[in-house]
This record gives sequence, C-alpha cells and structure tokens, in this order.
Amino acid sequence: MILTVTPNPCLDKTWQVDKLQIDKVNRPLLTHTLAGGKGVNVARVLKTLGCNAVAAGICGGATGKMILQALSKEGIAHDFVRAQGETRTCAAIVNTTDCTQTEINEAGPVLTRSGAAKLFALVDRLLTENNCKWLALCGSLPPGAPDEMYALLTEIAKSHGVQTALDSSGTALIRGAEASPFLLKPNRAEAEYLTGMAIGCRDDAVHAAQIVQERYHIPAVVITLGEEGAVFVWNNKLYVASSPAIRFVSAVASGDSFLAALLCTWMLGEGDESACEALRMALGAGAANAELVGAGLCTREAIVQKAREVMVHCSTLQSYSAYSAQQL
Ligand SMILES: Nc1ncnc2c1ncn2[C@@H]1O[C@H](COP(=O)(O)OP(=O)(O)OP(=O)(O)O)[C@@H](O)[C@H]1O
Ligand SMILES: [Mg+2]
Repeated sequence: MILTVTPNPCLDKTWQVDKLQIDKVNRPLLTHTLAGGKGVNVARVLKTLGCNAVAAGICGGATGKMILQALSKEGIAHDFVRAQGETRTCAAIVNTTDCTQTEINEAGPVLTRSGAAKLFALVDRLLTENNCKWLALCGSLPPGAPDEMYALLTEIAKSHGVQTALDSSGTALIRGAEASPFLLKPNRAEAEYLTGMAIGCRDDAVHAAQIVQERYHIPAVVITLGEEGAVFVWNNKLYVASSPAIRFVSAVASGDSFLAALLCTWMLGEGDESACEALRMALGAGAANAELVGAGLCTREAIVQKAREVMVHCSTLQSYSAYSAQQL
C-alpha cells in the first residue's frame, strides 16, 4: 500500500477559455472541479494504475467536505483529519489559444498545534494498520505548520520501517530533506533552490542530484526537467531519461503523475531493471498528464503507451563522470 499525505489540500477549479481577456467578462468553454493538492493527485494516478493507495491529510469547512465527497465519488480511498478553518480553493484559467495557464492559489487555513498533532496521530495509525511500502509527502505546508513537519512524518515512517518519498518546495523541502527520506523528487526550480546552483543542461541536473544525495544522505534522488525528461540517481547508478513527444495542453500535476507511476512501478520489483522500468512509467505518466487539462486524469492506457516511447540510459555514476569529463 502507498499512503499519500497532503497537509494543504484544495478544491481545484479549472476554467478553459479560448482567449483570456483581462478586465472583461470571460465565459469558460469548460469547467472542471476536482479534489486537489499534490498528494491527492498522486493518489488519483495510483488508483488509475491499480495500486492500493490511501490519500490522507487535513481539511476543514464546507470546502473540506466537498473534497471528501469528491474523493468518495472518484473512488479514491481517503482518511482526512477534520480541522478548524476553511480548506482552500485554487483556481486555474487555461487559455487554449496560447496554451498558457493562469493560477490563483489561496494559502489555506492556519494549522493549529492540535491539527498538526491529529495529522501525526493519523499517519502513525494508518502506518500501523496497513502494510505500507511508501509514504508520499506532497506539496506545500499550510500556514502555521512547523517547517519540520515533513521531517517529523519521515521519522514516524522510519519507525514503521516505511520508505518516504518527499515532493515539496521552499523551507518545507529543505527541512524535510534534512530528515533523509528514501526518495526526493524536486523539479528543476526546486533542485536549484536546494543546491544553490543553476541547472541549465542534463549534466547540471546529474551534478545537482549527486549533491543532494550526498548532502542530505538520501538514497534516491530524481530531478524532473519538464519536457527535457528526468535524471535519477540511486544505488551508485545514474538513469537519464527523455520525455516522449506530446501534444502539450497543461503540465500541471505532471510531477505528481510522475511520482505516482514511479512509486507504484518500483514497488513491484527490486534492482536496476525495476528502477529503470519505474522511471520509464514515470515519464509516461508525466507526458500523458501533460496532454490533458486537469490533474492526474490520464488513463492507464495512455501512460503505458507514452512509456513505450521513453528512452532511458543507465550507467554507473563513475562512467558517466568520465564520459562528461571527455565532453569538456
Ligand atoms: N511538455 C512536456 N512534454 C513531455 N513530458 C513532459 C512535459 N512536461 C512535463 N513532462 C513530464 O512530466 C515530468 C514532470 O514534469 P515537471 O518537471 O514539470 O514536474 P513538476 O514541476 O514537479 O510538476 P507539478 O509539480 O506541477 O506536478 C517530466 O519529467 C516529464 O516526464
Ligand atoms: Mg512538482
């Protein structure tokens, strides 16, 4: 089983317009309302891939209720702590003419001490009750949450012998990385923030992944690079993968789709081949998601189809360094 945690979920509202007109009345061609937040998106794709998963988190107010109802309607197993305050709404306007997406994301309600304590207790209980392989900690923290929230959840997972995957940003990411989760999935900007280095090309990303791995003692680091694919370091091996060509619509939640497919596929086997296959499926999911409006709504067939087009190059870190040095 995979447990995803979203401390700051949202109700995602997406309006699709053919041309966004500022300071004018806009009428959407399509409106989507979806339970959202990164861990929720991950749980959605895990369900699509047939993986046993539970989405956990904190929610409150009428919006929180709507999220729980939406999750039930989608058939996504969930267990959320009810807390004070109104869960946030995040709005996105997708402009089909120029493929831009304008987002307005509320900060979310302030998390109280008792709300945080309830979440820790919930995760501890769910890890005790279930045979869990991965704990996926996803997204931003709500205002008022301790910066070390993900570090504390990582410690809880370790006490249960469960591997943690962390996908966050800013201080929550740094504090979380300091607890040495098993896997870290920053995108390019997050990896730049973590390392302080500019990531222009894939070689830079490989270097950044190694820095993150060594500095924070993290066994597996995967940096996603949007349409340029991803680099993955694990077990003294380096995997470099290219994204398949797509008809781009919106890459929002491509990273979440990527993480879901990576964890779900990696769970099925051990060793290098399994890691390579997991990366292939992850890129397939990221690409399939980017062809649609909405977060993690791609089908299993689309993921598998895209995954077939992914090229993964595997080498040892030493041989890659020697190869890179020769290119200089
Ligand atoms: N334009 C694209 N074409 C093909 N694949 C893409 C494209 N954009 C994203 N992907 C796929 O999705 C993966 C994740 O994308 P990205 O690096 O943008 O993640 P992210 O910024 O973490 O996304 P989010 O946080 O919104 O979920 C990429 O590694 C790639 O496999
Ligand atoms: Mg991301």
